[in-house]
Amino acid sequence: MGHGRDFIDQYRIIRLIRAGSTCQIFEAVDGNSKQKVALKILTAQARKSKVELRFLQHEFDIASKLDHENVIKVFGVRTTGNDPYLSLEFGQQLNLKQRLRTDKELMAHRSDNIIEKTTLGLQHLHNHGWVHCDVKPDNYLVDDEGNTKLIDFALCQPSRTGFLAKLGFGRPKEIAGTRSYMSPEQIRRRPLDIRSDIYSLGCMYFEIVTGKMPFTGSSPENLLQKHLSAKAPPANTINRNVTQEFSDLVTDMLRKNKESRPDNLKKVLGVLSGMRIYRSKPPHPSEIQRSDEEA
Ligand SMILES: Nc1ncnc2c1ncn2[C@@H]1O[C@H](COP(=O)(O)OP(=O)(O)O)[C@@H](O)[C@H]1O
Ligand SMILES: [Mg+2]
Repeated sequence: MGHGRDFIDQYRIIRLIRAGSTCQIFEAVDGNSKQKVALKILTAQARKSKVELRFLQHEFDIASKLDHENVIKVFGVRTTGNDPYLSLEFGQQLNLKQRLRTDKELMAHRSDNIIEKTTLGLQHLHNHGWVHCDVKPDNYLVDDEGNTKLIDFALCQPSRTGFLAKLGFGRPKEIAGTRSYMSPEQIRRRPLDIRSDIYSLGCMYFEIVTGKMPFTGSSPENLLQKHLSAKAPPANTINRNVTQEFSDLVTDMLRKNKESRPDNLKKVLGVLSGMRIYRSKPPHPSEIQRSDEEA
């Protein structure tokens, strides 16, 4: 964004929320509707790149067709001029990755809702024929009740089984997505379908209930190698409060061979609806404090 400017088109910039490598996210107000929005603006470097501009348009094209309470809404896009931007529904202040770090207890207390809502949002995208390709806690916004919204559609690809694939949409990309959540087939740069997202979601479920990633590596290569061939520990060996059923579900989602994973999220949601995630529900932080004081 140019220095000293507080307007981009009809949007009045309020403040910077996050700065990434290719974009900055600002809180802004739409002067027409008076609504608070989030503006995703390409950095000075990124806006010179035709590829990045295409990503921005791609993200708009996908998100503008989606309509679900667990998916962020998109309002507009501009890929020309000084400040190419995407305008989005203003979500929560923090993403799930940040809140798993800063509000551990509250997030644990809400994890059944978080797990359901993150899955419902992703299912909506799958139902539209897309693979997200970058499912991770940073790409969900979450509120205090554990309601979530899926964001960041830049890397979406048509599901190979979907009709869009036959029309030739989507582009191959360098290892896109974050290594800690990447499926074996994504690492191998094979064609992706929704089962790749189901693997990444399994990594995320694991992290939500254990506070840890299923795999960590001594180097980026070592981490990728583990996704390809190491066995993830059962989630309930890390957190004893996790039920066997939930731990088994995560293990199934993390199968190296995509044929062995649940093949769609309807199945995952079906399995989830018939089980408990924890043996005893993690208490609300206010209750934890009270028992500390009593002790
Ligand atoms: N609509 C939004 N409302 C509030 N915060 C957002 C919104 N969109 C993105 N953010 C914040 O900005 C971060 C980066 O946005 P994202 O779209 O994931 O871009 P990147 O391509 O840099 O990953 C998110 O992790 C989140 O913290
Ligand atoms: Mg992101």
